[in-house]
Formats: sequence, C-alpha cells, structure tokens
Amino acid sequence: MRIQKLILPMAVSAASLILSGNAVAETWKMAIGDAAGGTQYELGETFAELIHEKTDGEVTVDLFPNGQLGSEQDTINNASMGLLDLSILAINNITPFSPTVGVMTLPYVIQSPEDAKTLTQGEIGEELAENTIRDAGVRILGWSYSGCRRLTNSAKPIAEPADLEGLVIRVPKNEIMIAAYQSWGVNPNPLAWSETFTALQQGVVDGQDNPYITIDAMKFYEVQDYVTDSCYVFSLEPLVIGEGMFQSLTPEMQSTVLEAGHEATAHSYEYLLESEEAIKQRLVEEHGMEIIEPADDEQEWIDLATGIWPQFYDSIGGKEKLDEALAALGRDPAPEE
Ligand code: MLT
Repeated sequence: MRIQKLILPMAVSAASLILSGNAVAETWKMAIGDAAGGTQYELGETFAELIHEKTDGEVTVDLFPNGQLGSEQDTINNASMGLLDLSILAINNITPFSPTVGVMTLPYVIQSPEDAKTLTQGEIGEELAENTIRDAGVRILGWSYSGCRRLTNSAKPIAEPADLEGLVIRVPKNEIMIAAYQSWGVNPNPLAWSETFTALQQGVVDGQDNPYITIDAMKFYEVQDYVTDSCYVFSLEPLVIGEGMFQSLTPEMQSTVLEAGHEATAHSYEYLLESEEAIKQRLVEEHGMEIIEPADDEQEWIDLATGIWPQFYDSIGGKEKLDEALAALGRDPAPEE
C-alpha cells in the first residue's frame, strides 16, 4: 500500500516520511485531549494498532495524550489546516466549528450508550460527519463513547440545581453547555480542557462535569470530592483526520483508514460497557469520592435544561434536525419555539 503523493504539499505535510531501503514508512501524529487511560486513548491506541497491522507496518501512528499538541479546539484548527494529522477530542469542542453536531450536545437528548450508538452509527451520524467536513475541514473517522457527563465539585454534595448557588463551575467553551448551566441558575466559567485540572487544583473553579472514565483518567479525584450521578450530556469523543490529509491518500489507503475507524469505534463501545461500572466503584472505594443521586430522579434538572433547546434550533440546522434525532431514539418531537 502506498501513499499517493510522496512529496506532500505543505498544507498536508504534518506526516513525516522516513525512507528505509526501498520501503516508505510514514508516521502520523495523533493529538489526544485526555490523559492516557481513558476512552480517547483506548480509541487512539486501537486505531493505531489496526492501521499498523493493515498497512503491514508502513504507517505508524504516534499518540500525544494530555493536550500535548494544544487545546482540543486548537487541534481542530491545526488538523483542518494540515498542521496535524489526527485528533481525538470531545464533540462539545467540535460544536463551535461545526454547529450542527450540537444536536448531540443538547442536554438530555442522548441518555444512554445505546442512544449514543444509534445516533453516531446511523444516518444522522453520517450526515453530521459530512457537515463536519464542510464546516470544520475535518473528517470523523470513528467515535469513542465515554458515558454520561457527571458533575463533580470540591465543596459539597449537589442533588438539585439550587445547590449550585455560589459555586464556580468550569464548562467547555460551548454555548449549549453554558446555557444549560444558566438554566440551572449559575453562570459557569468557560475554560479550555487543557487548563481544567490546574483550575480545579488552584481553586479557580470549584467543579466541572465529565464522565466517570474521564474523571478517573484525568485523576480529578485528587482535587474533587463529590460526584452527582447526573446525565445531562453524553460524552462522545470522535477521532478526526484533516480533510486535506485524507484527500492526499490513495483510495486504497482511504478505505483502510475508514475501516480502522469503524473497527476502533466498535471496540470503544464495548470498552465503555465493560469498564464504566468498575471505574465508578474505584472512584468511591479507592479514591474516596462521594456519589450523590440527583433529587427527584433528575426531573428538575431535565425540565430546566431542556427548556434551552429552542435557543439552538437555528444553529443545529432547524428543529426538524432535533426531531429526526428524537425519532431515531423513539421519542416525541421537541417543543415548538
Ligand atoms: C471537555 O470537558 O472539554 C471535554 O469533554 C473533555 C474531554 O475531552 O474529555
């Protein structure tokens, strides 16, 4: 299998070529926002192994976890400009560049791993992937599934929205997530993912939300004591390739890359199902975190946060896009504006 252009244009020259004898080996760089040990790394490692195997060792993918290659949002820009080959990052950090994927970050749309699989692996996922090429210049090759985002904080148990009063909560730089917290009565602090641990450690912010697997991988238990077992957004973390880079590959290599993405996605889903519960237990038993059940089955959180949906109908491409997603999940259409 050969790369189509041995001398890549400057715009797609992030991959490094190494000549050894007659063989052409190539190394691709993959940025990973989370630390090693989480679902992002698991997806990246699986993808890298598959690519190495499928190309008979011709392509090696080097992983750079923990935001070493920049904030998650920077990596989208860099991949789209051809300065980076691959990135794995949270969907909420793609939404500012590709607003229609916001349908997947609207609160309480995706409520389970099954819902996440239905939306990402069906027609809706395909359409959003196409939109992301158009809007953000990157192609979604695969998905990691990290589970529901749980609210953590260092101050007190939080069971209902009123308990948030007086706390500073970090959110991604994502308008939908900012609005969700505003619906619960607080103004959150939008902060890049790469700055979050330090901000929690230094007490600049009191809390944040992310899945159990991410809380564990990022060692947030060192600086956070309480976890509310909420599920307002399901964390999807796609693997993307710069579209310029993808288009520079031979058709055969493009198929290989897409196939590896599909297989790594299937692995990621199984990984979540197999590991989340044990990680949740570990956070309590080994790291002393306290888990709090949301009051009244989370109903007040749900009622307030779903009230923001109409504010985002335009940015996600119209209310009908949300209705299509809800229909795919067997649910009723969204309320009118
Ligand atoms: C964020 O909170 O910015 C991201 O969801 C974190 C992540 O990429 O895991």
